[in-house]
Amino acid sequence: MERNTNGLAVAPAGFSAETWQTFARDGLLVIDDALPSATVEALRATIDDQAKNHEGNIVAGDPRFAGLIDHPAHIGYMHDVYGDMLKLLRSEYFKRAPGQVTRNDWHFDGPRLLPFQVFGDRVPLRIKIGYWLTPLPEAGMGNLVYIPGSHRWDHLPQYHTHDPHPEEKRLLVRPGAMTLMWGGLWHRVDVNSSTTTRQNLFLEYGPSWLTASDRVVSDPAWAERLPREQRIIMRAYREQNQCVKPPERDVPLYLPRAGEPDAEAGLYADHVPLSLRKRSTWLETQGLA
Ligand SMILES: [Fe+2]
Repeated sequence: MERNTNGLAVAPAGFSAETWQTFARDGLLVIDDALPSATVEALRATIDDQAKNHEGNIVAGDPRFAGLIDHPAHIGYMHDVYGDMLKLLRSEYFKRAPGQVTRNDWHFDGPRLLPFQVFGDRVPLRIKIGYWLTPLPEAGMGNLVYIPGSHRWDHLPQYHTHDPHPEEKRLLVRPGAMTLMWGGLWHRVDVNSSTTTRQNLFLEYGPSWLTASDRVVSDPAWAERLPREQRIIMRAYREQNQCVKPPERDVPLYLPRAGEPDAEAGLYADHVPLSLRKRSTWLETQGLA
């Protein structure tokens, strides 16, 4: 990764107007072959080494997962939405063995009593990245089951059951595929009547002022040893108010990409520090937020 003299790097590529429109319409965006096969193999081997079938905060639990925090296959997409206040809210792996009994029924991720959508539905407050590491060529393999467009629905009659929905779809992908899921999308997990253990990873992101889901706060000493972007994205602040007003050294997270407009050019006097200025996200500058 190329860095300027201050050690800052440009954000990796993310959404196009077209992929954003698909994501906003369906609540799920599938990107095939997002990871090279060597990376898929390495991640599978790392998951094989884990004792449990499911674990959270994996980026802190095994150093071989830490590179996922700012992996270039997805972090540009997250920066397009959450900008310089990007935070990793949760990281987890799943091994869903053949014949598994426990599998999630219809739900959407995040709060139910006061859902994120109450505050607006143009921009999701959480996005879940999924990496699919084993083949999912057909149904009945522990697939993600989802209803396209249902991230706009407050209610689903099938909630908390495995009753089929007429518009449900199953995720069918090759190893190395990536999914982006809008926080409010209704989904469940299919039976696994195959002979394959489904292996996948989830990484959830949002603005730093949202609470994390798999930790109170990361160990600041651990975070300090991470590369700059990973350290920032973990937001291991001793004072939680820094999740609202980040320290000056953590702004900006990334440099703007070539040709991207600076929506705030000329709007601030020189004496206002970068950490106290608004910096529009890609989504805002495209008029999509
Ligand atoms: Fe879920």
